[in-house]
Amino acid sequence: MSDRFSFAVNARDGQARTGVLQTMRGDIRTPAFMPVGTAATVKAMLPESVRETGADILLGNTYHLMLRPGAERIARFGGLHDFMNWQHPILTDSGGFQVMSLGPLRKLTEEGVTFASHIDGSRHELTPERSMEIQRLLGSDIVMAFDECPALPATEESVADSMRRSMRWAQRSRDAFGDRPGHALFGIMQGGVTRELREESAQALTGIGFDGYAIGGLAVGEGQEAMFGVLDYAPGLLPQDKPRYLMGVGKPDDIVGAVQRGVDMMDCVLPSRSGRTGQAWTRRGQLNIKNARHQDDPRPLDEDCTCPACRSYSRAYLHHVFRAGEMISGMLLTWHNLHYYQDLMGGLRDAISQGRLNDFIADFHAMRAGGDI
Ligand code: GUN
Ligand code: ZN
Repeated sequence: MSDRFSFAVNARDGQARTGVLQTMRGDIRTPAFMPVGTAATVKAMLPESVRETGADILLGNTYHLMLRPGAERIARFGGLHDFMNWQHPILTDSGGFQVMSLGPLRKLTEEGVTFASHIDGSRHELTPERSMEIQRLLGSDIVMAFDECPALPATEESVADSMRRSMRWAQRSRDAFGDRPGHALFGIMQGGVTRELREESAQALTGIGFDGYAIGGLAVGEGQEAMFGVLDYAPGLLPQDKPRYLMGVGKPDDIVGAVQRGVDMMDCVLPSRSGRTGQAWTRRGQLNIKNARHQDDPRPLDEDCTCPACRSYSRAYLHHVFRAGEMISGMLLTWHNLHYYQDLMGGLRDAISQGRLNDFIADFHAMRAGGDI
């Protein structure tokens, strides 16, 4: 076990890369998908079950954990890993993005953001310095710089102002983080869908120097075509020898397109959240288990899937427990969805290693039926 954080690219195929990110808490195989554990749990899953799906790392949230149960309390219980019983790596988001979605409840200044809690309305402040302190108290392995993510569409001027403030906050995050062997700090590129702003942001971040670089400010309403438009050049603006993390993405076809364009890490609530609303993702496409078509169907969600939901339960049963509002419904669908996402990542990693990514992607699209399956 190394006490330093390191990243090695083992193979490339076009712009895509596969490799390993080493941390004190274990290795992360890239491209990696990080399930989201916002409130110190991946909803409806035991941590050991999340691990069984093939996840190497989870994402946690500064914003939610600072409000409830509080970062200092988690620190008294030995940090987030011990508190939630997940001994593998954890990346924490810095809070800026989650605060942004509070809308009128927040106030933004050069110093940081003040906001009212969505839980009890109490006032709080987040600054780059406080975000670094909270993520240190949580014991996060990969800490994210404090940034602001503007909703799109927005005027280019407002996106530029916001990006430049995020770059000043990135410097303050770097200064406040200090030197913490074994722990990594990632900067976050902003700049909307404007190439010059993305270039300016990449230059500012690489000038400061981070252990990894995130591409932020995407998947915020611009659509897949515009997002891929940015991803056609954005990874190339970042250092080749550092991990690149696309934040908050996405659907399976977004993930495949991002990996093809040089992204190494991603996170999204989609597989877990949509599992709780009856949506299943499979290699043949997506299906909604609440649809009456499934009520007499003896087949599993996906005949080729080896997850517990597919090994032991019919669509008819999954339909029934969803309609009956039984908790096992969210548990089984979330397990299946996370398993499918990790299978997809494993397939992408193998295809890149073997130099057959284009064939893998062609098969991926050919397998997917139109509409509900
Ligand atoms: N999650 C999704 N997008 C973003 C972003 O731009 N910044 C942060 N901090 N988190 C995100
Ligand atoms: Zn399955």
